[in-house]
Amino acid sequence: MFMLEGKSAIVTGGASGIGEATVRRLAAAGATCIIGDITDAAELATEVGGEAHHCDVTDADAVQGLVDATVDRFGRLDIMVNNAGVLGPGRGVLADDPAAGRAALEVNLGGVLNGVRAAGSVMEPGSVIVNTASMAGVVGFPGIGWYGMAKWGVVGLTKHAAVEFGPRGIRVNCVCPTGVDTPMVGVEAADHWAVRSQSLMNQHVTRLATADEVAAAIHYLVSDEASMVNGHALAVDGGLAAGPSVQFIEAALGAAIADESGIFE
Ligand SMILES: NC(=O)c1ccc[n+]([C@@H]2O[C@H](COP(=O)([O-])OP(=O)(O)OC[C@H]3O[C@@H](n4cnc5c(N)ncnc54)[C@H](O)[C@@H]3O)[C@@H](O)[C@H]2O)c1
Repeated sequence: MFMLEGKSAIVTGGASGIGEATVRRLAAAGATCIIGDITDAAELATEVGGEAHHCDVTDADAVQGLVDATVDRFGRLDIMVNNAGVLGPGRGVLADDPAAGRAALEVNLGGVLNGVRAAGSVMEPGSVIVNTASMAGVVGFPGIGWYGMAKWGVVGLTKHAAVEFGPRGIRVNCVCPTGVDTPMVGVEAADHWAVRSQSLMNQHVTRLATADEVAAAIHYLVSDEASMVNGHALAVDGGLAAGPSVQFIEAALGAAIADESGIFE
């Protein structure tokens, strides 16, 4: 089940976090993984029997070059995971330096667009693209607007590409994680309130997701078991999008409504 033997897979941003967990999962399922990242991933590639290439996803020629090299080497590209991303500035649409915001847009949306275009130009029927979006691409979070607008773009691009590539037998989906415990959060935003609030708003888990929980969703979407799933934005969010959690409402009201209402009795 969910086996990927004989398949070739590119994972951008595969050197760290969700990308690294995805590389490990897809490789364990039998895929040959090609990591495209600006961070060196040679050790990981050797460990999983894949390859690591320096590739800046904001450079369309570099992304096309990575895709073409994969096709030359393995005969085809079966799986493209457009995952590379940066948190970018985190004070707000007005407060943040627009140059820094646009630079993040270039990675978070432009990089995915480059990957979708490059993969779509060579893929054959049965191939699949998965983009890493975010819950910040499904609802708004104050403070991370530059990040969020890119992620809304990734969800939109996923749906447009799905209807355009669908007739050619290529599926395009995306995952929308809540806050995930990765270096992106740890290094850039350990105590960022926007990240902590996502965890508070989740319905049944008041913690960050793990990279492997997101990689598992990506694994499902790239597998043949998801052959009927196309143009879908899969929330990996602990129920965040379902509505405000009891703990969130209690914190807002300063009242123990769970006890008062007896909802859990
Ligand atoms: N961590 C979270 O809370 C969270 C939540 C939702 C979505 N995401 C998304 O998941 C994806 C992976 O993030 P992560 O949390 O694993 O972060 P991470 O920082 O652990 O990994 C990101 C990887 O992307 C690479 N990268 C950055 N800019 C690049 C570029 N221009 N070209 C090529 N590679 C580049 C980095 O070198 C790194 O290896 C991102 O798209 C991120 O927006 C993360």
